[in-house]
Amino acid sequence: SSVSPPTSSFSSPPPVSHFIGRKEDIVRAGRVTQLVNGCRDVLVLHHQGQLYAMDKHCYHAGGALQNGDIEEFNGLLCIVCPWHKYKITLAEGEGLYQAVDNPTARPLRTHWRSKGVKQRIHKVAEVNGDVYVTLNDSGEAIESDVYQTEKYRTIRP
Ligand code: FES
Repeated sequence: SSVSPPTSSFSSPPPVSHFIGRKEDIVRAGRVTQLVNGCRDVLVLHHQGQLYAMDKHCYHAGGALQNGDIEEFNGLLCIVCPWHKYKITLAEGEGLYQAVDNPTARPLRTHWRSKGVKQRIHKVAEVNGDVYVTLNDSGEAIESDVYQTEKYRTIRP
């Protein structure tokens, strides 16, 4: 009779964390960028006591998110891309936009809506004052993936 191999709930190796820098340096700078694992341009932000990590190039057209302002929209902290002012939530990477329910009404009433997750968010953690990023390698495509190529990197370092 044949023996079936032991089953395991771990189908892939555990995720790897990558050292980004000392927390005190990141807090001082507010934001740092790094090519993580030789393959991913990541922006790490410190804002109001929280660390966030996301793809560095904006999902819209590859804008330099490290130069964006952080503002709150609809109660959600967002980075505002300096290129065309797209708003991306820090926590989820959702693209926000203002929708108009009735374009003929005056005054116009607008509401913030989500376009869904557009920017890949990565896990960031602090251990004894050191900050680490774990790349979010979920298989589903996210729009910001488009700008994570060797070719793009050489055009826009
Ligand atoms: Fe970011 Fe257009 S590239 S808003």
